[in-house]
Amino acid sequence: MKDIICLAIESSCDETAAAVVKNGREVLSNIIFSQIDIHKKYGGVVPEIASRQHTECINIVIEEALKEANVTFDDIDIIGATYGPGLIGALLVGLSAAKGLAYALKKPLVPVNHIKGHIFANFIQNKDLEPPFICMVVSGGHTHLVNVKSYSKFEILGKTMDDAIGEAFDKVARTVGLGYPGGPLVDKAAKDGVDNCNFPRPVFDNFNFSFSGIKTAVINYTNKNKEFKVEDVCRSFEEAATDVIITNVRRAVEKYNVDKIALAGGVAANSMLREKMQKLASEENIKFYCPDPIICTDNAAMIGAVAYYDYLDGKVAELGINATANLSL
Ligand code: KG4
Ligand code: ZN
Repeated sequence: MKDIICLAIESSCDETAAAVVKNGREVLSNIIFSQIDIHKKYGGVVPEIASRQHTECINIVIEEALKEANVTFDDIDIIGATYGPGLIGALLVGLSAAKGLAYALKKPLVPVNHIKGHIFANFIQNKDLEPPFICMVVSGGHTHLVNVKSYSKFEILGKTMDDAIGEAFDKVARTVGLGYPGGPLVDKAAKDGVDNCNFPRPVFDNFNFSFSGIKTAVINYTNKNKEFKVEDVCRSFEEAATDVIITNVRRAVEKYNVDKIALAGGVAANSMLREKMQKLASEENIKFYCPDPIICTDNAAMIGAVAYYDYLDGKVAELGINATANLSL
């Protein structure tokens, strides 16, 4: 079969990214411009600033992606772009750029679901990985336990009923006085702490999650214990949050009898979560997959991976397609 080269674009939150991906799994380039330094001083992503930054950077990252992959527009077969979920103004920048290119180059436009992108980062990292498997998607905006049945069929087994896990990490970091984004800072501080705060580990009859109770417990603890040790609070929070995830993944593995589990999304970079997933896999005698941190957080290579499989599946869009902020998996 002829090679399919995808130019992929991602702009759903605060990373402006473009990548060139061959046949869904071979990354020829992966350019990411992170706006984190700009949003840092506000303690979170400011949507209007994000859109403006995307507008300024989008053409630059696309040019860089082509240059680094050593290809020209003529070599591109399909254009893939995130069309949801995410910040609507941010999504529109990348999607509009993709539409313009698809029109000018007369190439198919493949609209990509961002959450599916996080899951597909696993295919880039692990060339031999094939569905079915259970994937735990943990990001700043999402916490989904997904049964990946094939490249196009997904069953959401459970999701958060309140905060996403990344949101909880960021909020805890702010509560104990660490910076933004808090996840990596909590991860680092927790390594020197002790799990001595007794935070709750809520689990339910189904596979859903709730992190707002753990987050509130952290806030109450720091209010009551003025001399708290940052490292201990981070460690106790991280142990509680990851225990809840592991409990649900273990139940899903046993119920669905799968032999592979995977992590996806920005929080998949968390060292304790990776270790606990690996331990669970060893105990259950199954395989554990996890992308490198650079393709765990938002990037366009993962969007190129989805675009390839969706294109083979005939999922090409009309150029009138709109971005969908609350698109579900
Ligand atoms: O997937 P992502 O880049 O953006 C969304 O689509 O949401 O995820 C960003 C989230 C942030 O909440 C950040 O704090 C968290 O991932 N994160 C981490 C770590 N690295 C990034 N959380 C815990 N431990 C980490 N090492
Ligand atoms: Zn994301």
